[in-house]
Amino acid sequence: MPDLDAHYWADRYRTGDAPWDIGHASAPLQAYFDQLDRKDLRILIPGGGRAYEAEHLHRNGFTHVFVIDLTDAPFQDLLRRCPDFPRDHLLVGDFFAHDASYDRIVEQTFLSALDPGLRPRYVRKMHALLRPGGRLVGVLFNDPLNTDKPPFGGSEAEYRALFGRVFTDLVLAPCTNSIPQRAGRELWLRATRAADGYVPVACSLYDRYEAWATQRTPLRIEHVDEAGAIVRSSGRIANLRTDRTDRTEWMDLDTGLAIRLDRIRSADPA
Ligand SMILES: C[S@@+](CC[C@H](N)C(=O)[O-])C[C@H]1O[C@@H](n2cnc3c(N)ncnc32)[C@H](O)[C@@H]1O
Repeated sequence: MPDLDAHYWADRYRTGDAPWDIGHASAPLQAYFDQLDRKDLRILIPGGGRAYEAEHLHRNGFTHVFVIDLTDAPFQDLLRRCPDFPRDHLLVGDFFAHDASYDRIVEQTFLSALDPGLRPRYVRKMHALLRPGGRLVGVLFNDPLNTDKPPFGGSEAEYRALFGRVFTDLVLAPCTNSIPQRAGRELWLRATRAADGYVPVACSLYDRYEAWATQRTPLRIEHVDEAGAIVRSSGRIANLRTDRTDRTEWMDLDTGLAIRLDRIRSADPA
């Protein structure tokens, strides 16, 4: 597998090796954008490349459209096509390091460009970047595609398990208005962050809990219980689980105590 870093992507733009580029905003996303009323929605397009979706939104009066990409190579093309696109809305950097809050985030051949091992982090990061009630929308390949280089594909079952772990309100449906080259091979994705309630913990923290569970590390934990009282406990993590009905995430200690992950204030090896 090649290193999928900024050099890799910049090189592909430089050598004109960009078969994902369809030269316009994809039809499913255009149709979605065209029924939005509020032009002041904060919209992020991660891995936006030449960003035809951003151009479409900008030309249609949307004022808070942001694109983030590892390389600025494709932004030069966007600025040639659309010179008045706000330059400070074109962010060069890593999506996973980005920190802000959006009403909508747009997926268009970004997930398929990432190492599949990053998918759980992608879902958590999308959730974290959405304000409560915000939505991730876009299209996903319903096709296995490559295993050694982008584009990496997937299936409805895989995406359902992946997104369903974090998003309680999830729509994945066969796309009826794909461009002809992708017809029958795309799913429409709409994942809404719950208006309030459980806030999934950061990926890095969850990874740490998983490591401690695997290593059976004795821990000292402080959490806030349902009544708002501080509770101090110690034990080893017996299990990390997601509640099937409300998607809250829990840590079961070997002492029998169950703690909701977003209520933990500190956890350290004893
Ligand atoms: C397959 S291209 C898709 C571009 C665009 N969405 C399109 O459909 O034309 C993937 C894009 O994601 C960008 N990218 C890859 N990893 C990224 C990351 N971690 N953060 C931000 N952008 C990333 C690449 O530079 C590239 O422009």
